[in-house]
Amino acid sequence: MKKILTIVGARPQFIKAAAISHVVRDKYAGKITEDILHTGQHYDAAMSARFFDELDIPRPRYNLGVGSGSHGVQTAAMLEGVEAVLLAERYDGVLVYGDTNSTLAGALAAAKLHVPVYHVEAGLRSYNRAMPEELNRLLTDHASTLLFAPTATAVHNLEKEGFEKGRVVAAGDVMLDNVMHYRPEAVRRKPWPSDGRPMILATVHRDFNTDDPKRLRTIVEALERVGERLDATVVFPVHPRTRGHMSGMGGGATRLRCVEPLSYLETLSALDCCRMVMTDSGGLQKEAFFCGRPCVVLRPETEWAEIVDCGAARLADADVDAVVCAAEAMWDAAVPRPTQFGDGHAADRILDAISC
Ligand code: UD1
Repeated sequence: MKKILTIVGARPQFIKAAAISHVVRDKYAGKITEDILHTGQHYDAAMSARFFDELDIPRPRYNLGVGSGSHGVQTAAMLEGVEAVLLAERYDGVLVYGDTNSTLAGALAAAKLHVPVYHVEAGLRSYNRAMPEELNRLLTDHASTLLFAPTATAVHNLEKEGFEKGRVVAAGDVMLDNVMHYRPEAVRRKPWPSDGRPMILATVHRDFNTDDPKRLRTIVEALERVGERLDATVVFPVHPRTRGHMSGMGGGATRLRCVEPLSYLETLSALDCCRMVMTDSGGLQKEAFFCGRPCVVLRPETEWAEIVDCGAARLADADVDAVVCAAEAMWDAAVPRPTQFGDGHAADRILDAISC
């Protein structure tokens, strides 16, 4: 029996961890036991507890309660907290997800104590080191024992960096597992209310988009303009980080509708109902693709290049005309079937490799 510590802290990690936890419970009961450690990076009910309830994720055994702070303060507090847990209790491995500060802290604390690190969503690269997430990904990959790559591009990126073949597992993407598992239920349980106009689902939370008032103002204006041009309603669930920087913006907008952050099932139902997605989120780019919706990526580059390459998404940096032009181009775009992200059974492959 292997005893694994799953380390999560931010909203997208709760969603990814749900895919693994279900399979641990359903298929690996005699082989793997899992404890969950929540760093406390996200702490608002709408950003954290709601996902545990809705996705039926086991309660965290540990909650470090780290909260918000600068990168150094936040990561250091997590590092200290994870290390204390790993010193107090023996685990056969830690599972970390994605590219947040919680991912890096979990991987680093474990690797220094010679506890095997399993990285889910390994090998992603935007090749923009100004993004905190890019540093988190690189450093986590290099501290990891087994690297679970979601796509062939991710495997290739790791090969270029010299990782031995045995360390890299082409697992597929656990987010596809989740969309396949939850989408029918989401659409049935929480149908999205329509206002009669076509809907665009928009999110913005990256620090480089939110923390520069000029950039954020440009994006908000661009979203309103896209709504006017395409005669659509732009539903904009606002991340707390973005809300903190938005005061006075979007006033007088008629097509932009700001709402509270959505739960996972609400997101899937909004994706079902919308005609297009505009986002700087990596996760939502993929979910749009999995649900057959075209996407405008509000960034100069993306780590999910295969979605752009197959014509399902287009990049547009913070410039009103560029965003409007990309939105018009994507409005009627045909989205091909996603074949690059596995078959919806990534969690099985990951747990097979871990349980060996
Ligand atoms: C983090 C991740 C990012 C991920 C995102 C998902 C890092 C470096 N970034 O960004 O990769 O895409 O999570 O949402 O780890 N806040 C609240 N309540 C909360 C959480 C945050 O009010 O529950 C506010 C605080 O003002 C905080 C700010 O949001 O300072 C930013 O939160 P933080 O966890 O530092 O980063 P995110 O922007 O959420």
